[in-house]
Amino acid sequence: EFLDPVRYLGNRSSGRQGFALAEAAVARGATVTVVAANVSLPAPAGVTVVPVVSTEDLRREMHLAAVDADAVVMAAAPADFRPAEFVDAKIKKTADGTAPEIRLVENPDILVELVAARSSKHPVIVGFAAETGDAHATVIEHARAKLARKGCDLLVVNDVSAGKVFGQDDNEAVLLGADGTVEQVPFGPKGALAHKIWDVVVRRLD
Ligand code: CTP
Repeated sequence: EFLDPVRYLGNRSSGRQGFALAEAAVARGATVTVVAANVSLPAPAGVTVVPVVSTEDLRREMHLAAVDADAVVMAAAPADFRPAEFVDAKIKKTADGTAPEIRLVENPDILVELVAARSSKHPVIVGFAAETGDAHATVIEHARAKLARKGCDLLVVNDVSAGKVFGQDDNEAVLLGADGTVEQVPFGPKGALAHKIWDVVVRRLD
């Protein structure tokens, strides 16, 4: 999310899990569109890549791509907030050393919108949850609340407190189904987790 011509707000998501999902889907014979924001990895062979920058771009392209999809997976880490205004010229330091205050506004929740826009249960929609436990609730309690809030069919829950998700080749997760199913996926390659996710999606498609 650009603040001025040289500065932006970003986050630590690498796109690896999304690309692993795309690769696994191609291997299973699916036609795959990847809407990718700011990913510096080589795209998997055989997918159509739609490059985007901001959450608003991602939102527009996801709504277009979802229309004909059997399954939609929101593995992206969209910016929850964007600067309230884009400043055309580089923000300069002031002579008296006063730092600028940056006001943020909330971005739309694309996953919630995609769930609201679908007709009945088509397409199957998968969300991700990056959670840390805190004084109020455990990772899974937060995730259950998120699943209810988002309304998707499956939530892939990552515990991000240990710092072992972002930019790594391996991952572990819990798959929470809207139907109450819970599946623990042990620490392993993101490609293996991708196939576990598609196993659940395929059961729902059947
Ligand atoms: N997501 C989305 N649009 C946003 C923010 C998130 O579609 N503006 C999607 C993500 O792609 C992911 C899911 O929502 O599939 C959960 O993202 P997460 O960052 O864990 O949750 P938040 O909705 O941002 O909630 P919080 O920050 O309060 O945990």
